[in-house]
Amino acid sequence: MTGKLDGKVAIITGASSGIGEATAIALAAEGAKVAIAARRSDRLEELAKTIAASGGQALPIVTDITDEKQANNLIDQANAELGRIDILVNNAGVALTGNIDGGNTSDWRRMLDVNVLGLLYTTHAVLPILKAQGVGHIVNISLVAGRLARAGVGIYNATKWGVNAISESLRQEVLKDNIRVTIIEPGLVETEINNHTTDPVAKKISEERLKAITPLQSEDIAAAIVYAVTQPQHVNVNEILIRPTQQER
Ligand SMILES: NC(=O)c1ccc[n+]([C@@H]2O[C@H](COP(=O)([O-])OP(=O)(O)OC[C@H]3O[C@@H](n4cnc5c(N)ncnc54)[C@H](OP(=O)(O)O)[C@@H]3O)[C@@H](O)[C@H]2O)c1
Repeated sequence: MTGKLDGKVAIITGASSGIGEATAIALAAEGAKVAIAARRSDRLEELAKTIAASGGQALPIVTDITDEKQANNLIDQANAELGRIDILVNNAGVALTGNIDGGNTSDWRRMLDVNVLGLLYTTHAVLPILKAQGVGHIVNISLVAGRLARAGVGIYNATKWGVNAISESLRQEVLKDNIRVTIIEPGLVETEINNHTTDPVAKKISEERLKAITPLQSEDIAAAIVYAVTQPQHVNVNEILIRPTQQER
């Protein structure tokens, strides 16, 4: 069977669950060799087995992307063991929502560390490799809240607005190097992301928003990523905003 990504190599951060896991499976199904990164090694090993059972190839690399050395190692190891890097999906993220007024400042630091600095570390490390190859694609996962601010989501909003700003600046910087940059902005997706929210009020609000509609599934977002990375080289899908049909804002 021939896939649209045969011979390509993709790195996916946050591949141990949700959107990252589904994306790794979808890219591997199109023929890409995938380096899968996150902190939970058991989940990565399990995913690598699932991909191998379907005839794909996956390299688990345990990584905390908030540690610059680990982020650098992810890129170097993937390049050394898989031979090249065509696609980096910066998906790892946390949504520790809650009001700014009286908010948990260590949650703020964690969101900035993972959602912004972690994404920057992997991006910084991969760019010299993509430039030397003369081709590459960076896909950054933002969200609807990267465009629309909402009470109780301010710092999460800020991190994803940051992701959008970083992505657009980078797109302009590296287009001359034949490197594409895509922003994916999902609405509500049913994943384990809300499990980590420390503020019980914010957690309840997120759970109720999810229950009130038919949410997106991780595979819906993976399909959008596959679309973006399988377009001809002269086409750069800059942004994809995807909401569940019933989501108003
Ligand atoms: N669910 C939604 O409604 C929604 C909507 C729009 C956008 N998003 C975005 O989609 C992305 C994926 O979220 P998800 O919904 O799929 O949530 P999820 O199931 O909780 O996945 C988050 C992933 O990030 C990884 N991660 C967290 N901290 C990390 C760190 N320090 N280093 C490396 N990996 C880390 C987690 O792995 P480990 O814990 O194993 O490290 C996990 O694999 C996030 O950027 C999120 O903001 C989600």
